[in-house]
Amino acid sequence: MNKPLKIALILGSTRDARFAPIPAAWMMEQAAARGDVELELVDLKEFDLPLFNEKASNAWMPSEDPRAVAWQKRIGEFDGYIVVTAEYNHSITGALKNAFDQAYVEWAHKPIGFLAYGGVGGARAVEHARNIAVELQMVPVRTGVHIGGSDYIATVHQRQPMSTISEHIAPSAQTMLNEIVWWGNATRTQRELDAQAAG
Ligand SMILES: Cc1cc2nc3c(=O)[nH]c(=O)nc-3n(C[C@H](O)[C@H](O)[C@H](O)COP(=O)(O)O)c2cc1C
Repeated sequence: MNKPLKIALILGSTRDARFAPIPAAWMMEQAAARGDVELELVDLKEFDLPLFNEKASNAWMPSEDPRAVAWQKRIGEFDGYIVVTAEYNHSITGALKNAFDQAYVEWAHKPIGFLAYGGVGGARAVEHARNIAVELQMVPVRTGVHIGGSDYIATVHQRQPMSTISEHIAPSAQTMLNEIVWWGNATRTQRELDAQAAG
């Protein structure tokens, strides 16, 4: 069996009263029983990222702000990503877009999946995020985990526990993890070959 993939579970919203940590804890539990992935929580809020203020993306030149460099170093440790995605005005949060922009090299050639919530399951935010991910040379996986409709009202607005909706979304969480593992192994192998070829 392949070495377990190291996957970051990124909290994509940063406001004090955010819902994001609740589904993130649930997602950690969904992955815990699997031997093929190791999820690690990465909280955007802990990185104090400035609004992007570099001379260019780090696709072209190294970033100067130490907070951007620390963010790049952290996300560079992973084989793939799952982003806990709130929908703000039919897109991702400004904080998450800024965090995507603050790196390039580290995101590239890795899979990304989304656990989203909103009236329509955060679907509009996820579609935007997938477009951004493609430009960052990532592989957005087909399946997402969407907390929508009455499940959204119950958990986000009424703050009922995730256990009340878990059986509705657990199958998609496992399918998404399967897809992350497939692409994660494929892209890790190719990144290793690229590194060997580069000496
Ligand atoms: C600025 C803002 C814009 C929002 N826009 C949407 C939206 O377009 N669609 C939606 O389903 N919910 C929207 N909501 C409601 C969010 O789904 C809800 O507040 C959720 O808790 C936000 O995620 P967070 O708690 O992790 O910040 C919006 C919330 C905020 C604060």
